[in-house]
Amino acid sequence: MCNSSKNSGNLETVMNKDGNSNSPGLKDVFKDDFYIGVALSKDQVCGKERETLYVLKKHFNSVTPENILKWEEVHPKPNEYNFETVDKYVELGEKYNIFTIGHTLVWHLQTPDWVFKDVSGNWVDREGLLKRMKEHIFTVMERYKGKIHGWDVVNEAVDEEGSLRNSKWYEIIGEDYIQKAFEFAREADPDAELYYNDYNFEKPFKCQGIMKLIESLKERGIRIDGVGIQGHWFLEYPRLEEIEAYILALSRIGVKVIVSEMDISVLPIYPVESEAVDISLLIPEFQRVHNPYVDGLPESVEKALADRYVELFSLFHKYRENIKRVTLWAVHDRQTWRNYLPISGRKDYPMLFDRNCKPKLALKSLIEHFK
Ligand code: GLA
Repeated sequence: MCNSSKNSGNLETVMNKDGNSNSPGLKDVFKDDFYIGVALSKDQVCGKERETLYVLKKHFNSVTPENILKWEEVHPKPNEYNFETVDKYVELGEKYNIFTIGHTLVWHLQTPDWVFKDVSGNWVDREGLLKRMKEHIFTVMERYKGKIHGWDVVNEAVDEEGSLRNSKWYEIIGEDYIQKAFEFAREADPDAELYYNDYNFEKPFKCQGIMKLIESLKERGIRIDGVGIQGHWFLEYPRLEEIEAYILALSRIGVKVIVSEMDISVLPIYPVESEAVDISLLIPEFQRVHNPYVDGLPESVEKALADRYVELFSLFHKYRENIKRVTLWAVHDRQTWRNYLPISGRKDYPMLFDRNCKPKLALKSLIEHFK
């Protein structure tokens, strides 16, 4: 819930104000190619960051809710839905004619335990869980019919070995839970685009597993409009050729490609993916290695980040026939999840705007290069 009604007033003022800069917005530069989207936090949706909303209007023509539409946020208890903030989010999209995304309907994370349990605390059975899934999908999607244009229906269903992830969804319903989710979603809003969304396509087994999944869904007559490659990348990983290979592989199986959650960490890769560990718990030497830019980003790294953005967008531009949207997974460096996962308390710099929401070299370079 947004806790002050004054905020929407701010939003209106800011969104109607055009700055004095004559340079084009990022969305204008790519207007013939693909949508340029951004993930908004709850505070941003509630109008608490005036500068962010100006940036939104100028540079983006698509939005994704970073967290407010995840199951635990929108449907925390069996008969309780929190629609207030999502309503504001959708209103924002409608008012400014933005291609509005819903994220995400079925996922193994950020889904409350009650979803999988009965009143006595035992696991529900297949029919019980399918009923809950259907009720959730219909309630949320029907409310925003015609207003949310594309949905991440299933998120991260494939594991690193390329098998279906052993989530509660899989365990209780069985392997057709993904098919069911898409069927319910199609029925709830036949006009919305429906996507499958995942990460680590550069891992060969995982990539093959995802391709197999999409193809088998298509063979069973399920329409999937796009596949989201999340794009949580690093300065030097994955290599451009790897990304190109999976853009091509997805295009070959006849789905639109979406770069759905792009950010480029400038920090070293930390090979542990489970629970976040706090930086202060690491020995000082590790702290220095894994959190090297506490006092700011050196110019050379700022430049490397800008070059990486330009190189990646050049690739997207090359495949603009197949790529429908590129969404940045935060407006600015203060907002990004990469400050707290897989190590919390770090200072990362993966976005196009700095902690004060000022354009970084990466944004300027993209506009300069492609305008
Ligand atoms: C995944 C999810 C996002 C976000 C990120 C980081 O990519 O799809 O919603 O939660 O993890 O937390």
